[in-house]
Amino acid sequence: MPGKEASNFEEILSHPKVKSAIDDVNAEVLERRAYSPLRCEAFSHPYTILHETDRYQFELDRQAEKLLPDIIGNRVQVVEGKDALPDDLAREYGKRRNIGIVFSGGPAPGGHNVIAGLFDAAKKANPDSIVYGFLVGPDGIIENEAVELTEDLVDRYRNLGGFTMIKTGRTKIDSNDKMALSRETCRRLDLDALVVVGGDDSNTNAAFLAQEMLADGVQVLGVPKTIDGDIQVRDIDGNVLCAMSFGFHTAARSFASAVSNLCTDSSSDIKYYHICKVMGRVASHLALEVALQTHANMTLIGEDLADYTDADRLEKAKAAKTTDYNAYGITLRHLSRVVCEAIVRRAAVGKNYGVIVIPEGVLEFINEIQVFIIKLNTIIAEYNRTHDKDFHASYLHLDDKLEYLRRLAQRSREDSSFTLWNTRDDDLFNDIPAFFQEGLLMERDSHGNFQFSQVETEKVLLGLVNDYLNILKEEGRYKIGIQKDYFRKRMLDVELDPERYGSVLFNNYGVDEFLLMKPSIISIKTLSQALENAGLLTAGDNIPENVVKIFNKSMPSFKTQIHFYGYDGRGNDPTRFDCLYTYNLGLTAFSLIANGATGQMAAIKNLDMDFSSWEPIGIPIAPLMHLEERKGKLALVIEKSIVDVDSTAFRVVKAQREKWLGAAPGDDHYRRPGPVRFTGKSEEERPITLELNAIGGSDG
Ligand code: FBP
Repeated sequence: MPGKEASNFEEILSHPKVKSAIDDVNAEVLERRAYSPLRCEAFSHPYTILHETDRYQFELDRQAEKLLPDIIGNRVQVVEGKDALPDDLAREYGKRRNIGIVFSGGPAPGGHNVIAGLFDAAKKANPDSIVYGFLVGPDGIIENEAVELTEDLVDRYRNLGGFTMIKTGRTKIDSNDKMALSRETCRRLDLDALVVVGGDDSNTNAAFLAQEMLADGVQVLGVPKTIDGDIQVRDIDGNVLCAMSFGFHTAARSFASAVSNLCTDSSSDIKYYHICKVMGRVASHLALEVALQTHANMTLIGEDLADYTDADRLEKAKAAKTTDYNAYGITLRHLSRVVCEAIVRRAAVGKNYGVIVIPEGVLEFINEIQVFIIKLNTIIAEYNRTHDKDFHASYLHLDDKLEYLRRLAQRSREDSSFTLWNTRDDDLFNDIPAFFQEGLLMERDSHGNFQFSQVETEKVLLGLVNDYLNILKEEGRYKIGIQKDYFRKRMLDVELDPERYGSVLFNNYGVDEFLLMKPSIISIKTLSQALENAGLLTAGDNIPENVVKIFNKSMPSFKTQIHFYGYDGRGNDPTRFDCLYTYNLGLTAFSLIANGATGQMAAIKNLDMDFSSWEPIGIPIAPLMHLEERKGKLALVIEKSIVDVDSTAFRVVKAQREKWLGAAPGDDHYRRPGPVRFTGKSEEERPITLELNAIGGSDG
């Protein structure tokens, strides 16, 4: 009876539980939308003014002075609340404005709140002001694709993650044509100000736009965004002006929650190593925070690896009165040995499982790989320049690209002045797996950055780890420790003497709690020989079943599950910290606009302190610039902040390394951060890294 079925199903669809299940809006979303983040004290007044201060100084780059002459002299501005202003200033503050906002680069949790803060402040100052959202990143500026943001639209996204409202993109406004089109868009929309919410490269772009558009009367402001946490600003004396970009806390908490779940699973099922690559294009801030949040067994920190010195090599070089440059920095092979050693040590106490965290950008800190990245950047950029064609379009397949490199190596043999790619480079490059070659040759992003997220870093490292573990296994050095009581029980079960068998099978019987099978026993054959030699087995007889069982248990197999935590955490709804931080960044951006600033980045000082101490400020962008290699050329960019190995946070992690590795009998020391929480009191109030770095020592 199809009619009856249909009407029954209609009834089912109108059931309140079904209706609630198929509604896109659930209770969590409603709660988030309704939440009103607190405002910094300065914003509790009808007006704000800016105090310029000379307290914070920067080392200026000569090129920045040349290219950004009108904004290089900008100073730090402190936002102060005012209950009243002289009439002319009040009029200026509350004048009707057209403001544009654009997201640039990867999404970061909290972006919608920057818009909400800016929108609320702009409308409060003058309800007739208009805020435009440029669509799909800077392309929206170039192509004049913008929407007028309405209360309804803004309300729909309050406290929600992603950049969904207006989307984002990675285009850089880096040519005269793109700049001219952008100016035209601003003219057409009659923009007073443009807010660029982006990372180091996008804020760099904002400074150039500010310089270019000064004559047009368009103010350009930046907002420090990126989950990577690598926009951190200090002045020349080390005073922290911006401790962390927004989105970092949420992404780190999201990754940590997933990694912590794996710690729980791994220590329950005890058969896998979970290899967790976590985002962060270059800097390892996210990995460091994940380590603090989860106490995973091993967390590699790229900056620490780069800091490594090979004491043996240095010693030898010193004796030979030479300099060994290879003694500085770790090689991939060496790193794989370090990882293997940790795995072998855990196995020795019966733990052939665990969780290893690898930062996405770790390869950036491995000398040999970094050299390849720089050389290939230059080669590709040179090709594009001289041929006026895209290298990747000309050489579609890996083989074609390798052939091109081979020709360069050949050229270096014929022309000694050509040193960019020599035969040794070519040989070394041909030694690495094809998927990795492909990764290293991949297209750079529009800012000239190497796209680490596209490279299977963990696979490269794991390949080497696997190979070396196999060698160690064959040499009898990678064994799973057998608990003494377990061994004794199994022997007594079948009336065998644990003492006699124990001293024949194990190296450390009677000494340690976990027994390590002798290195010479690596197969049933060698086991049988050992028993025969000790008079515990007659040639041709079967080995007792429980002895075989113990042997099998001692032989490890290295099983891995690989995970990549990046895009998922980037799309997470923001933590309360990020909700507060970003809403106040939006308010700050408006204060900068209303007070005539340009070329400044909105920031909140004292993020490491209680909310009542948060201080909205404007940081001059131009003085943060330095020269860096991009697309084979030196370019002026904001310096990325990487993990400071002298920082308290890093030193704490380093000091806990041995404990968290858990290469000792007993439970692991995992910590359970739980999922990102928005309400409630159990989530820490700010990134642990910030809390620790504020305690003392260097505030890296
Ligand atoms: P931004 O610096 O633009 O914020 O992006 C950060 C990031 O999430 C990195 O962690 C990651 O390497 C990269 O973006 C991934 O880029 P894409 O989204 O283009 O794959």
